[in-house]
Amino acid sequence: MKVTVVGAGNVGATCADVLAYREVASEVVLLDIKEGVAEGKALDILQKGPIDLYNTRISGSTNDYSKTANSDVVVITSGLPRKPGMTRDDLIATNAGIVKTVTENVVKHSPNTIIIVVSNPLDVMTYCAHLASGLPRNRVIGMAGILDTARYRAFLAEELNISPKDIQAMLLGGHGDTMVPLPRYTTVGGIPVTELVDAEKLELIIERTKRGGGELVKLMGTSAWYAPGSAAAQMVEAILKDQKRIFPVCMQLTGEYGLNNVYQGVPVVLGRNGVERLLELSLDTQELQLMHESAKAVRGVMEVLDNINAGK
Ligand code: NAI
Ligand code: 2OP
Repeated sequence: MKVTVVGAGNVGATCADVLAYREVASEVVLLDIKEGVAEGKALDILQKGPIDLYNTRISGSTNDYSKTANSDVVVITSGLPRKPGMTRDDLIATNAGIVKTVTENVVKHSPNTIIIVVSNPLDVMTYCAHLASGLPRNRVIGMAGILDTARYRAFLAEELNISPKDIQAMLLGGHGDTMVPLPRYTTVGGIPVTELVDAEKLELIIERTKRGGGELVKLMGTSAWYAPGSAAAQMVEAILKDQKRIFPVCMQLTGEYGLNNVYQGVPVVLGRNGVERLLELSLDTQELQLMHESAKAVRGVMEVLDNINAGK
């Protein structure tokens, strides 16, 4: 199995490293537009193999897409990261140009691939890649929900002083301040979280989760990479190993949750065909309203992309 990671920056290199040391794929290609960077990082990861004891073949490429040919999965991380004071949406014009070109090149050499988008603004870059690829919606998906639920789970684990392994959570909506963490679908070792954390504390954790990306941008002057890189690698693993795992991923909705032609994080079954099944939860009125508000925010940014594409 072959995986390409486009963008050898913080997130892309971390993702490639996780894919290599966990032997998720037999071959990993790391590609970047900056001369030598992908080759250098791939060589570094290759040389870690004898220390960490993995066999993965990994190589780098400076913008030569022929080396990515016949990839089973392609992860797109190319684009500018957020800087302090920027929202994810501020990145749209630059990153849309990058994601469109990258997707066209990827599909030329791997026409049957599955694309996982990481670049921000995530929901709209998934739309951009979907448009540029011509692939069906189950094969062009965005990574954000695994990261956002991981932040939520980590904060809950800290609050309860228990292992994050025992926290299960689901989250819907866009990758932004309007994301919708669902306490009703959060359990701790099978126990509803509302029995263990009081409502006020839970609300604070939800609010911190929504601002989780921004908290890190403020601390580091750029956005996060360890958790995002691992989250994208976990999606690749579920696909290549046909694990049929349930994750929140961003994809085009075509009527689900009463929403049409908008890109939102929703729970899906992830396997060898990408999204094998989209799970439609029976949301209560408030949850549905929050999801529709989130979809409205994403639609606004999709329109910005539509205007860019129309040359307006
Ligand atoms: P980075 O700046 O460290 O790396 C980006 C890389 O993309 C650079 O090496 C750059 O040379 C490369 N690149 C730019 N244009 C390219 C092109 N046309 N072809 C190939 N490579 C190209 O940025 P970082 O931190 O890795 O973040 C990458 C993206 O992921 C950003 O848009 C960031 O906002 C997003 N992100 C999304 C998350 C999510 O949850 N979806 C989480 C974290 C970051
Ligand atoms: C994050 O959530 C900025 O999307 C990036 O870390």
